[in-house]
Amino acid sequence: MAGADPQALKDTILAAIDAADNPDALETVRIESLGKKGELTMAMKSLGQLDGDARRDMGQALNAVKDAVTQALDARRSALAMAELNRRLASETVDVSLTPRPETAGVIHPLSRTLEDILAIFAEMGFVVAEGPDIESDYYNFTALNMPEDHPARQEHDTFYMTPDADGQRKVLRTHTSPVQIRTMENMQPPIRIIAPGRTYRSDHDATHSPMFHQCEGLVIGDGITMAHLKGCLIEFCRAFFNVDDLPVRFRPSYFPFTEPSAEVDIGCSRDGGGLTIGAGADWLEILGCGMVNPRVLEYCNIDPNEHQGFAFGMGLERLAMLKYGIPDLRPFYDSDLRWMRHYGFMPFDAPSVHLGLS
Ligand code: PHE
Repeated sequence: MAGADPQALKDTILAAIDAADNPDALETVRIESLGKKGELTMAMKSLGQLDGDARRDMGQALNAVKDAVTQALDARRSALAMAELNRRLASETVDVSLTPRPETAGVIHPLSRTLEDILAIFAEMGFVVAEGPDIESDYYNFTALNMPEDHPARQEHDTFYMTPDADGQRKVLRTHTSPVQIRTMENMQPPIRIIAPGRTYRSDHDATHSPMFHQCEGLVIGDGITMAHLKGCLIEFCRAFFNVDDLPVRFRPSYFPFTEPSAEVDIGCSRDGGGLTIGAGADWLEILGCGMVNPRVLEYCNIDPNEHQGFAFGMGLERLAMLKYGIPDLRPFYDSDLRWMRHYGFMPFDAPSVHLGLS
């Protein structure tokens, strides 16, 4: 090797580096040149066979070759790594700009829309949303709402009872959202202003009744709350919900064990010409139940009726949706029939607000 030609060595190695098209091939070139038994290493080892000036000159020349080879290896290594990265980036790219196909766009169910409308109106009046469980204890669904064991009103609820627990307690599928009133009063100090939407259940099934349906409860508790507040709040709600400024609203005496006095709210409508028009007319439609919270219910919740009073109301969402959107039958609400959904559904981005308009 003493007669090594540094220039030729350098040309061969650099050409091999250039030709290496992957990291493994490059590593082989490195081992074959700079490794223990590599060409350049061997050439350097054989320097000892030269003397004096020749050894120095050859030493310098070989060092220069070594520097050049090392640099070339580094450069080629980064170039290969970069190429590999670019290849991966290209192969793993996700085209997020793909446009959605219009035929798969979903719509908002009329029930969801009805609830959004109701919440928008009450949110504007300062109500907050509260929730309770679908599987409820007998105490919250009945007893604390002033319907003790033997109360006749219990029979009217067509209740679904669960199998009794080990301790003989029978839970129920809540028959109304009113138990949320109790849960709220147990956990919150007056002033209270809540709206509680949710699923409710009764063993009843025909064109206008479903065993599972939805209600929305309202509860206001404060000092000096009177029937006038109840009336003002609900008249305002009915007019906003049906979008009729002069909608006639009537409070008809009624009975609920948990309110005293109690009323049912009717709105004016007309059935002239076969159709149903909400607004002034000869007829009335019942849309919700309400009343002043019965002092006994306040007592169940440890609220002193001499200090705080309030009102409550409850409405069926399906019924409101059917009236507002002219949907004749209740059953398709739960059929997931896309044709029905497209006909009665709402555009997802068109969220209701009292300012921008309800549906
Ligand atoms: N819970 C009653 C029902 O289901 C409605 C209601 C709620 C009435 C609150 C008065 C006050 O019919």
